Amino acid sequence: TRTPVNVTVTGAAGQIGYALLFRIASGQLLGADVPVSLRLLEIPQGLKAAEGTAMELDDCAFPLLKGIDITDDPNKAFDGANVALLVGARPRTKGMERGDLLEANGGIFKPQGKAINDHAADDIKVLVVGNPANTNALIARAAAPDVPAGRFTAMTRLDHNRALTQLAQKTGAAVSDIKRLTIWGNHSATQYPDIFHAEIAGKNAAETVGDETWLAETFIPTVAKRGAAIIEARGASSAASAANAAIDHVHTWVNGTAEGDWTSMGVVSDGSYGVAEGLISSFPVTTKDGAYEIVQGLDINEFSRTRIDASVKELEEERDAVRALGLI
Ligand code: NAI
Repeated sequence: TRTPVNVTVTGAAGQIGYALLFRIASGQLLGADVPVSLRLLEIPQGLKAAEGTAMELDDCAFPLLKGIDITDDPNKAFDGANVALLVGARPRTKGMERGDLLEANGGIFKPQGKAINDHAADDIKVLVVGNPANTNALIARAAAPDVPAGRFTAMTRLDHNRALTQLAQKTGAAVSDIKRLTIWGNHSATQYPDIFHAEIAGKNAAETVGDETWLAETFIPTVAKRGAAIIEARGASSAASAANAAIDHVHTWVNGTAEGDWTSMGVVSDGSYGVAEGLISSFPVTTKDGAYEIVQGLDINEFSRTRIDASVKELEEERDAVRALGLI
């Protein structure tokens, strides 16, 4: 029998946690033959609710679920962790300045990064979901100098999936016919969903759409502002689709992208496409055997260049702000 994979989830008692944990325990994160052991990290006020969720996990009698530990101590939560999903974050509340938001999240992601550095397994893979996800990942990464930088990633898969469906609905294609779509930049309103390299049933997507006005004025803002539209409609933020994207992100990272396709992940920049080295920015990536590579050699047209640069500029500003706060 295989040793269980230790999966740590922070913010386990939150909305996304509730949508995520059952899918991890059922085998959808890593594979239907991979046993998992869950480590749930919460703040003290969240522990009781996390225990309630753990009771429900027990009540599912998932054959792959080999254990559940609940703690408010990051050192325990990340001990031996193979996969860490950093979901818990400090949300922006009314009147909060960006500097305050970054500082409050630094207080969460810096100690968590250190605990990962000191206690996680050698093969640790980290996905940051909690916003501002790219910069929170940057903070955690900076606090974990002994972990290879490439193990810290930020989630833009929800944006990627949102873009897939918008494009499918526009063209009448099936989502499964769309390949090589890319989200560039920050997981924020400045993100850039790029269809110039995408293919729909083997044909170039931008040419198939043939409508740059739709791209600029409908597609891009619909994808970028989808989170706000969900809050408006549902009265609560997107949780099930965010959890689904986290499952997709890790599943793809571990199990690989399909031949001829790629996905979008926030990963540490090596300077590709003019994105400043060290920023955690979304790129087109292929994955294989648990490792990823940024897709190289794509031609970036003027339309794309302007938008990528604007999102990267925002990431640089966030990086400079957390640097000024001593968080990186
Ligand atoms: P939520 O507020 O329902 O849950 C957050 C949970 O985190 C709470 O239970 C809270 O007690 C816990 N928490 C706070 N600080 C913590 C700490 N230091 N350690 C452990 N747990 C801690 O929020 P929800 O809806 O689950 O969203 C979580 C985060 O995910 C938010 O930051 C949200 O903005 C972000 N998000 C990111 C998306 C993306 O595409 N990257 C998409 C949707 C949401």
